[in-house]
Amino acid sequence: MRLRLAGAVLLSAAAYYVYLPLPSGVSEPWKLMLLDALFRSFMQASDVAHTLGVCHRVHLLNRLVSWVEVIEARSCPAVQVTDIRLGGVPTRVFQPNGGKNLKRGVVYFHGGGWALGSGRMRSYDRLCRKMAEDLDAVIMSVDYRLAPEAVFPDQYHDALAASRAFLSSEVLHKHSIDPERVSVSGDSAGGNLAAAVAQELASDETLNVRFKTQALIYPVLQALDFHTPSYQQNQAVPILYRPVMARFWLQYLGASPSLEPVLLANNHTALDQPSISAATRSKLNWTALLPAERRKHFRPVVKATGSPGVVGEVPALTDARAAPLLAEQPVLSRTPKAYVMTCEFDVLRDDGLMYVRRLQDAGVAVTSDHYEDGFHGCMVFAYPPMMSSVGERSMNNYIRWLDQNL
Ligand SMILES: *[C@@H]1O[C@H](CO)[C@@H](O)[C@H](O)[C@H]1NC(C)=O
Ligand SMILES: *[C@@H]1O[C@H](CO)[C@@H](O)[C@H](O)[C@H]1NC(C)=O
Repeated sequence: MRLRLAGAVLLSAAAYYVYLPLPSGVSEPWKLMLLDALFRSFMQASDVAHTLGVCHRVHLLNRLVSWVEVIEARSCPAVQVTDIRLGGVPTRVFQPNGGKNLKRGVVYFHGGGWALGSGRMRSYDRLCRKMAEDLDAVIMSVDYRLAPEAVFPDQYHDALAASRAFLSSEVLHKHSIDPERVSVSGDSAGGNLAAAVAQELASDETLNVRFKTQALIYPVLQALDFHTPSYQQNQAVPILYRPVMARFWLQYLGASPSLEPVLLANNHTALDQPSISAATRSKLNWTALLPAERRKHFRPVVKATGSPGVVGEVPALTDARAAPLLAEQPVLSRTPKAYVMTCEFDVLRDDGLMYVRRLQDAGVAVTSDHYEDGFHGCMVFAYPPMMSSVGERSMNNYIRWLDQNL
C-alpha cells in the first residue's frame, strides 16, 4: 500500500514536471513536452553545478550532450565520413561514394547558441549523411569554437576561415566539388553564421568561387528587439525560451550576464540610446517588415528611456557580422539565392521572416518555408527516438530545395 502510494506520488510529480501547457497547433505536443522535460532537467543540473562552482553551466551541458550524442566518424557503403581540419577548423566531411564525378558541395554550421553542440553529434551526423546521400553532395560540417571560451568574433572568424578554405581550388579539387554548385547553410546559431558568411564572402573581390545558395534554418539574426511578435507569442514555448536566447546572445557577445533583464526589457534599445540610428532601427522595424498575419495583435515595445550605455559597452549588438539582419541593403543584394525556414512556435520566427523581407527588398530570390506547427530546433529531432513529424517534413523540404536550386 505504502509502495503504491509512493508510486502514485512519484508518477504525479513526474507528470507535473513534464506537463506544460502548449499552444494549440504545435506539432505532437506530448513529444515536445518530453523533450522539454529532458532539456529542463539538463539545464537545471547545469545551473546547480554552476551555482556550486563545480563548473561552468555550459561545460556540464556540453558534456551531457556529448555523452548522449557525439559519435565517431563512421563510413557506410554510400558515404565516406572523415574528420579533417578545414582552414584550421575541425570539420566532419561526408563524401558520397560513386555517383557523379563532380559533386555539389555544402558547408554546414550546427546550432546551439554559439555555445553548445557539434557536427559530430548523432543528429547532425545523420542530417549531413542524408544530405550527402540524397543530393550526391559533399557536406562539410564545421566545429567552430564555442562560448564561453570563444566569444564573438571567434565563432564568426572560424566559420569564415572554414568557408574560405571550402571555396579554395585545392579543397574543391581534392573533394571533387563543382565550383558552380556550392552552398552555405546552418541552423539556429549556425544559420546566423551562415548568413554572416554569405554576406562577407559575397562582397569579397578576391574570391574566384562564390556560393550559389544560402539555406538558413530558423536562424537567429538580431539582438536589438526581444519583443518581436514571435518573442512575445512564444516566450514560454519550449525548447528555446526567451530568456535563454538573451543569455546565449550575451555569452556570444562576451557581455555580462547581468544585462539579461536589460535586454529582455528592450532597455538597451530605448530611444535615449544615441548609438542606434534611425537607419538601424528601420532594419528591424517589424511593423513595416512583417505581414499582418504575423504581427497579429502585438504592439512594439519601444522605451523612451532605458539603460543608456549598453550598446557602448557591447558594441557588437549593432555589428552586422553578429546580427546579419542589420546589414545594409547593397550588401544583402550581393548575397546568393536564399532559402529561409521558419517555425510558428519559435521566438526566432520573426528574425527569419524579417530577413526574408529585407532580402526580397534587396532583389534576392528567396524561398520562405514556414511551418505553422513547427517549433525551434525541430529539424534535428527528425530521427528516433523523437521522430518529430514536422522535423521530418521540414528536413525533406530543405533537402528538396537544395536539390532543385543548387
Ligand atoms: C516603422 O514602420 C512604421 C510603418 O511603416 C512607421 O510608421 C514607423 O515610423 C517606423 N518606425 C521606425 C523606428 O522606423
Ligand atoms: C529600464 O529603464 C528604466 C528607465 O531608465 C529603469 O527604470 C528600469 O529599471 C530599467 N529596467 C531594467 C530591467 O534595467
